[in-house]
Amino acid sequence: MCGIIGYIGSKEAVPILLDGLKKLEYRGYDSAGIAVLKDSKIQIKKCKGKIVKLENLLEKATPKGNIGLGHTRWATHGKPNNLNAHPHNGCNSEVVVVHNGIIENYMPLRERLISEGHNFISETDTEVLPHLIESNYQNDLTLAVKKSIKEIEGSYAIGVISTHDPEKLVVSRCGSPLIIGIGEGEMFLASDIPALLSYTNRVIFLEEREIATITKDGAEIINSEGKILQKEVVNIDWDEEMTEKSGYKHFMLKEIFQETMVIRNNLEGRINLSTKALELDNLSLPLDKITEIERISILACGSSYYTALAGKYIFEELTGIPIEVDYSSEFRYRKILLGKKDLTILISQSGETADTIAALRACREAGSYILALTNVRGSTISREADSVMYIKAGPEIGVATTKAFICQLMCLYILSLYFAQVREALDSSEINKIISELIKIPQMVEIILLREPEIIKLSEEFLSFHNFLYLGRGINYPIALEGALKLKEISYIHAEGYPAGEMKHGPIALLDKTFPTVVIAPRDRVYTKVINNIKEVKARDTLVLAIATEGDKEIINIVDRVFYIPKTSDILYPILSVIPLQLFAYHIADRLGCDVDKPRNLAKSVTVE
Ligand code: G6P
Repeated sequence: MCGIIGYIGSKEAVPILLDGLKKLEYRGYDSAGIAVLKDSKIQIKKCKGKIVKLENLLEKATPKGNIGLGHTRWATHGKPNNLNAHPHNGCNSEVVVVHNGIIENYMPLRERLISEGHNFISETDTEVLPHLIESNYQNDLTLAVKKSIKEIEGSYAIGVISTHDPEKLVVSRCGSPLIIGIGEGEMFLASDIPALLSYTNRVIFLEEREIATITKDGAEIINSEGKILQKEVVNIDWDEEMTEKSGYKHFMLKEIFQETMVIRNNLEGRINLSTKALELDNLSLPLDKITEIERISILACGSSYYTALAGKYIFEELTGIPIEVDYSSEFRYRKILLGKKDLTILISQSGETADTIAALRACREAGSYILALTNVRGSTISREADSVMYIKAGPEIGVATTKAFICQLMCLYILSLYFAQVREALDSSEINKIISELIKIPQMVEIILLREPEIIKLSEEFLSFHNFLYLGRGINYPIALEGALKLKEISYIHAEGYPAGEMKHGPIALLDKTFPTVVIAPRDRVYTKVINNIKEVKARDTLVLAIATEGDKEIINIVDRVFYIPKTSDILYPILSVIPLQLFAYHIADRLGCDVDKPRNLAKSVTVE
């Protein structure tokens, strides 16, 4: 989704804005622009297309100045084109705004402002903002912004500069994230942390409807009533290197190869590797909550929804607690039947997905306790949940999630073992057995990653197909969904994930020799059932690639290709089986010349409904 960057200090703003915009590229965008303020004049440069196009535009005439705003736009209202790109200005180029989110009442505001003599040139909802601020301006930009945001409905993160108040940036947010970075004699603004890491690790997270007036020496933050607030400065423990490709062709590949490390990070401090004891003491979830709850709802979007689905199998198996799983976007508009005996687990890598935030608020209203699994400290979900378990993936830049998916699974395993222990749902020897397997997972992941050449070969064999079916059963069904999603999002090849046992109720009609099937078939308790399903598929002349357990000789005689993963407990297979599917999708997409890290139309963090 859209990205905002801002700078105020004594350096030239343009290089910093461009650098920040490049760091925000992964969020997904279709146009980009900057505005720089100098000598009571604001220069705007913007265009449809990639940042490199904006860079070329700027090379011809680089605006000079030490205060500026930058923006990457992901079109919602109005096509991606030069006019609709941000920044937008008012009538006299005296107020300039960048905006993320959607102003839902922009039509009546626009009509009113037009009737007052304002001239609009774009199709965007955003353009009402500079005109509104312009019309509310009476010698103080902060007050004009404060008055204006009272008139708007919807979601926004905005950065505003004005020739009337040339020494400040005024910013505010509601529903879309915005972070202030603190430097030495300079200040920054960004939609998310990776854009700031080259300059500072000290940040302030703006809360809903707060307004910050930023000068080069600091920020004064007020709430919507005008009360001055003392905000916490948070030190972020990510570093800039984490946001570089480090020699890999794409972030996605780097992130897949970081999976061994991030799994270890998740074990560290949570499982004592020598005693195998669970150590979740710093999880602020009260013990009586764990013992009291009668049901858990897990809510998420996108791939996080698939980890939630795997979470159902994991939690029900290990704790015996009934689990409901739902897409946040569906859940939020249903009758919400939650109460004090319910626990809601929200899974969100970014902590900023608009539908998951809305679901969180609906659960809170219904009285449910909320535990969030997220990657981003300071994100909206991390701040609004009752307890947080960080998934410790480090920054994930590739739009298609890989390592964060694995980390979410790790957290669900550890959490459900902890619940099983607290509720005495399993005895200590059973818990120990699973933990012993869990701590072997990093070595197993290493083995899979070493087999990348096999996946490259397989991807070459399969890349000319236009349709794929992914099948899995039991706990590997969500992994079939994730494997299919990975392939379609980055290679644009149609892929459908299905429960293997359900395949004969529909998808089987599609199958022939042009429609290969990827089957997750580890030696688990549903193995023989999956083998039967494979036979049904093979009877339709379909090419089958199986993800199978090391040593399974039987399967070679049934399928066309096999990729082996190490043997583990039934319940842990998803964490291994998803990795070849991530690599398979990556290598097909790369071979096809797709923009793997920034697939078309997709955004890393979906901050609008
Ligand atoms: C987008 C991303 C997906 C992600 C989903 C949910 O669609 O492209 O990779 O799974 O949002 O994001 P979240 O940050 O809430 O996990």
